[in-house]
Amino acid sequence: MKQRANQSNANEREVLNSEVPLERDLLLEIIANPSGPLAEQVMAKADMLRAEHVGPEVHLRGLIEFSNYCRNNCLYCGLRRDNRQVNRYRMTPQEIIAAAEQGAILGYKTVVLQSGEDLTFTGEILADIIREIKKIGLVVTLSVGEREPREYELWRNAGAERYLMRHETSDPDLYAKLDPGQTLEKRVSLLKTLKSLDYQLGTGFMVGLPGQTAETLLADVELARELQAEMVGIGPFIPHPGTPLGSCPGGTLEQTCVMVALIRIFLPFSLIPATTALGSISPQGRESALKAGANVVMPNLTPRIHRADYQIYPGKICLGEEAAECRGCIAGRITSIGRQVSEGPGHNPIWLQNQINPV
Ligand code: 5AD
Ligand code: SF4
Ligand code: FES
Repeated sequence: MKQRANQSNANEREVLNSEVPLERDLLLEIIANPSGPLAEQVMAKADMLRAEHVGPEVHLRGLIEFSNYCRNNCLYCGLRRDNRQVNRYRMTPQEIIAAAEQGAILGYKTVVLQSGEDLTFTGEILADIIREIKKIGLVVTLSVGEREPREYELWRNAGAERYLMRHETSDPDLYAKLDPGQTLEKRVSLLKTLKSLDYQLGTGFMVGLPGQTAETLLADVELARELQAEMVGIGPFIPHPGTPLGSCPGGTLEQTCVMVALIRIFLPFSLIPATTALGSISPQGRESALKAGANVVMPNLTPRIHRADYQIYPGKICLGEEAAECRGCIAGRITSIGRQVSEGPGHNPIWLQNQINPV
């Protein structure tokens, strides 16, 4: 008993001392025990690192979910092509640009254009939309999945600065099972292509996927670091009844917040969203993530008529709220925890430095 207590004290010292890199076994123990005292310390340390490296500001990104058509069949996702219950929609380019304009009026500096993998939006069509949105003076983040490298290049040249594409899980076998017809190898190769095109690269993963272990989650963090991702999105897996994983258990708030904290420790300058999925499983989920290392929130800018049809997972928050309501709600939540809404574009500081002094 005494020995265990000593071991635990030693672990605590190690977690608290930022000079000592965390040991692999200790990291696995923390991931496996997300409600334990070590996990608490890791989150406190991540919060300190967040304050030190990226400050008190929280960056807002207005999310426009412009098409829920998807050619893929990911086992976890409500928008998978075999889910016939989905009322599919595509916004027109004019509607997308109008939503971005509304975002600018509401004070957003960045819009995220997100969709399923919908090839109806050709490279050229999306490039035109990006050019129009750039005229408004917004930063453009894309999240439209796996496309041709030349399309990524076209969009970068049209002015898009950021690209989000989670690696989902770092376990290649699990990836192949969950994303039929797709491979982790291809995903990682495309993420590297995006990085080489000088996008601010966003990767990320789900927490609590069936078949995932503490080792997988640690490898997820290591992969994000290996990619030198500028942004890392982490959300709990939420089982969707219209999918083959509908009766599996989902990820928890605690597990997800610990993973947010580890990303902050491994990539101290990164942009980390407090995800909507986390806000959907727990009323204060986003606030918890913001206190465990996160510094971004992505309120919804999708026109209300389409919101309920973009249900990647069930129970998604903000289905009934207007964009302006979400904007106000989120500002209140940020200030309630002693943080402030950023007025700037919210670029990753390392990426920005490289733009000024190209290496
Ligand atoms: N629960 C939580 N997140 C999900 N995603 C897809 N399906 C689910 C689900 N059931 C995530 C994936 C994807 C992002 C847009 O949403 O990580 O990259
Ligand atoms: Fe399509 Fe993305 Fe859903 Fe997979 S996770 S089915 S790629 S929308
Ligand atoms: Fe949409 Fe709170 S962020 S209502």
